Amino acid sequence: MYFKQILDEIVGCASYVIASRQSNEAAVVDPSINIAQYDVLLQERGFALRYVIDTHVHADHVSGARLLAAEHGLEVSLYESAGVCYPFHSLHDGEELPLGQLRLRILHTPGHRPELISILVVNPERSPEPSMVLTGDSMLVGDVGRPDFGGGDARDQYESVSHLLRLPDWVAVFPGHFEGPCGNGMCGRPSTTIGFERLYSPLLHMERDPFIESLTDHVPARPLNMVAIEATNRGKADMSWAMLTRAAPIERVGVEEIANRDGETLLLDVREPEEYAHGHLPGAVSIPQAELASRLEEVPRGRPIIAACQTGVRSIRAAQFLRQQGFEDVRSLEGGTEGWIASGQPVEYGDTTLAKPRIAESEWSHAGVLRP
Ligand SMILES: [Fe+2]
Repeated sequence: MYFKQILDEIVGCASYVIASRQSNEAAVVDPSINIAQYDVLLQERGFALRYVIDTHVHADHVSGARLLAAEHGLEVSLYESAGVCYPFHSLHDGEELPLGQLRLRILHTPGHRPELISILVVNPERSPEPSMVLTGDSMLVGDVGRPDFGGGDARDQYESVSHLLRLPDWVAVFPGHFEGPCGNGMCGRPSTTIGFERLYSPLLHMERDPFIESLTDHVPARPLNMVAIEATNRGKADMSWAMLTRAAPIERVGVEEIANRDGETLLLDVREPEEYAHGHLPGAVSIPQAELASRLEEVPRGRPIIAACQTGVRSIRAAQFLRQQGFEDVRSLEGGTEGWIASGQPVEYGDTTLAKPRIAESEWSHAGVLRP
């Protein structure tokens, strides 16, 4: 067999090429929007593309699956309940896709999203057991996929990862993400084994109720441009441009610089509405980063902008996206609103009847954020 993991350093996700060296048939799983890399590989290796599979409808990056599938005269393969607005090849729990001598066994593992599947790779000539599992955003390395944005369910996630833990120790785990907002505490390694996770994953040691509580006991901070990206991946919109494609350097400004700013400068609070309500910089305008692309016309062009979030992580990605969209003078508040409050600056409040936020932003492992 042939197997290759391809990592996207900007959004922190992984895609996979699996092929049979006997039949020269290939499958691509969770392709990124940069589909040329798969075409080059398939051509160089002489593989014919037989399946393009998305493990779920992604909310944090635009999938390349439809483009790649169309180019090869295929339909995207998704779980039967995917609910997208375009024709697709419907996959079912327990189904096996033949790929030369290989078998791709579909396992429905909802939780992060209701339609999420894992894919067990079986090579019957070597073993009747699977040697690897592609887990999408169910089991991640040292973590599990967040269930709190876009129709997921923590109880389902518990059942799904418990199911995956019944696999033998030696099974290699290849997740859909190694960085990014789809988890809260990913280790950063791009692969692991069932046995290692069983021993050392903090979440997988938990009983059912604490596991569920740990995944739901906070306000979800949705990924950058999630609204536009999910609509695009569902076929309801065509906003591929909503995806961050490069990590531009962003100047960070301190509290004093903001306190002494001129009236022209727009303060843009990119946190969730609940966070904004419970304390924001005076005069800051709220556009959550998840809605930034879909509300881009609300951001004035030609004015200096300083983006602010809770601790200064999300605001950098938001600023990078605005730069990508041609906003030239965009900076980010170092230390975020937390730093602003800690330094004794005045704070404004909104509708504090909204749930009190608890977002462990500093624990996120954000792809591309801190690179120069
Ligand atoms: Fe995801």
